[in-house]
Amino acid sequence: MILMQPIPLPSTFVHRHLLGIEGLSPEEIAILLELAESYVALNREAQKKRDVLRGRTLILLFFETSTRTRTSFELAGKRLGADVINISVATSAIKKGETLIDTAMTLNAMRPDVLVVRHPDAGAVTLLSNHVNCAVINAGDGSHEHPTQAFVDALTIRRRRGDLRGLSVAICGDVMHSRVARSNIHLLNAMGARVRLVAPPTLLPTAIERMGVEIFHDMRAGLEDCDIIMMLRLQSERMQGTYVPSTREYFHFFGLDKEKLSVAKPDALIMHPGPMNRGVEIDSAVADDITRSVILDQVELGLAVRQACLDILGRNAPALPSAY
Ligand code: NCD
Repeated sequence: MILMQPIPLPSTFVHRHLLGIEGLSPEEIAILLELAESYVALNREAQKKRDVLRGRTLILLFFETSTRTRTSFELAGKRLGADVINISVATSAIKKGETLIDTAMTLNAMRPDVLVVRHPDAGAVTLLSNHVNCAVINAGDGSHEHPTQAFVDALTIRRRRGDLRGLSVAICGDVMHSRVARSNIHLLNAMGARVRLVAPPTLLPTAIERMGVEIFHDMRAGLEDCDIIMMLRLQSERMQGTYVPSTREYFHFFGLDKEKLSVAKPDALIMHPGPMNRGVEIDSAVADDITRSVILDQVELGLAVRQACLDILGRNAPALPSAY
């Protein structure tokens, strides 16, 4: 049985799509996090269903692999009462040479309300959003943005630390290929945190300091006195050529272990968007340290964040012209 009324929400999040964190105001970010907070509480109750998206159709279109993001969007849609369709690229007509735009227009003709899209190319999700009438959520486009992961990370930090303002956050590892890093830099800067990037020069995009971050090439210097440590996977599927001499050497210099962690604040939180490569960017002893690691909290909160995103865009969809 489907229960309960929508959670009341201030009507100041006026976007048809969620394509990135860039361009969202601190107020809009705060509204989304507040709504996600209500879903965290709801998800811990026995009756988890709402009917805010009853009668709506959600299509998940993933051109790249995913465990956490795809599963949490599917579950989020179902918990909100939507019909959820999963399109696996491996068995769709995309394999027969159909273009991205033709696929988008084909799905659009079935009148879905929300399309959640992950694609290996930066900008592909924005391009697709220009060809459909429904709301589009970017579930990761190449090395560009992954806005819902940044909301997950912000909610995780907020629940542990109360506020993001003034916190020092070290984002470590393969920043070059990371959409998670880019979305987090936008969000953390907007909310008044201080961002440090810690990586070898080969894994940092040129002129990244223009995004308002401090750069470190040494873990001990970069982690000193920081409040939050976000580790990133070496995203080899997006690499052309070799960026690190060997994973063993990479772990020695940039892998998070107890010794490197010891220079951070004594209560610094350890985060990772997943999937983790143990023994490459992170040692099991710190990943599994339940006093410091919030990696599984991130997964739990991921569901609430995706419910909030679907809820907000689902409520906006009928009212907004497509220019939003
Ligand atoms: C990330 C992604 O796909 O960008 N994972 C995720 O969505 N939780 C990070 C990664 O793949 O390393």
